[in-house]
Amino acid sequence: MPLMEVKNLTKRFGGLVAVNDVTFSVGEGEIMSVIGPNGAGKSTLFKLISSFLPATSGKVFYNEEDITSQSPHIVARKGVVRTFQETTIFKNMSALDNVVVAHHLRSKASLLGFFFNTRTARHDEAAFRESASEILNYLGLGDVKDSLASTLPHGHLRALGIAIGLAAQPKLLLLDEPFTGMNSEETAHAMRMVRDIRDRGVTILLVEHDMSAVMSISDRIVVLNFGKKIAEGSPVEIQNNEAVIEAYLGREDEEVGF
Ligand SMILES: Nc1ncnc2c1ncn2[C@@H]1O[C@H](COP(=O)(O)OP(=O)(O)OP(=O)(O)O)[C@@H](O)[C@H]1O
Ligand SMILES: [Mg+2]
Repeated sequence: MPLMEVKNLTKRFGGLVAVNDVTFSVGEGEIMSVIGPNGAGKSTLFKLISSFLPATSGKVFYNEEDITSQSPHIVARKGVVRTFQETTIFKNMSALDNVVVAHHLRSKASLLGFFFNTRTARHDEAAFRESASEILNYLGLGDVKDSLASTLPHGHLRALGIAIGLAAQPKLLLLDEPFTGMNSEETAHAMRMVRDIRDRGVTILLVEHDMSAVMSISDRIVVLNFGKKIAEGSPVEIQNNEAVIEAYLGREDEEVGF
């Protein structure tokens, strides 16, 4: 039984079909990647799966339950959590506070209680700070946990984005371009982290433009082009797939033309 199934999922923005009749499934414990040229519909697909955007048609099943039209915070509480391509890190807060705030997704105390400092909120906050610290240590950010996010280098900010996602205790973690802006050393470290997170029982769905990272980390890959799924398979199958080579070569030709 797959952990998550996307069936005939479609999203239109006016005349544009950003995600076009896409079907695939993710097994528990897999690292699955979604690749495709800019504008192929990858981030839109993630927003549909996390219920951040309503689908035009088609369905998303999680543990065999239809989650298509549930609200995003309900879907997050069930364990489907997305990190953002556009970072939503609060730059004027410390790394730790960013994770603590994210933790409130799973909290009994409302954010209001948190700010008005009620008893439950105080108790929860101490527990949150402890698990937030653990997450930051785990991701190698222990030394900078009290630094303002605005002072952190790009690689640390990406890791902080993952920490914020982990704070919501995901079962299915959707990572949108987590390696962007990282040098090769930072990417290698982040890839180890992602594998490690998977090994601790979190299923991973990844969007990433770094092809060598994708090919080495993924169990399976889905390829989108102009919103349509054009291929699905193992990294080796995808690298040898004619339609995929054509989609990417077409892109390269365009770039050479500049
Ligand atoms: N809110 C929106 N309103 C209208 N069009 C949108 C909206 N969001 C995305 N699009 C369009 O949908 C298409 C798919 O966009 P999407 O962001 O999903 O692509 P992507 O594969 O994530 O690209 P990239 O690799 O550049 O991040 C694009 O043509 C984009 O301009
Ligand atoms: Mg995108």
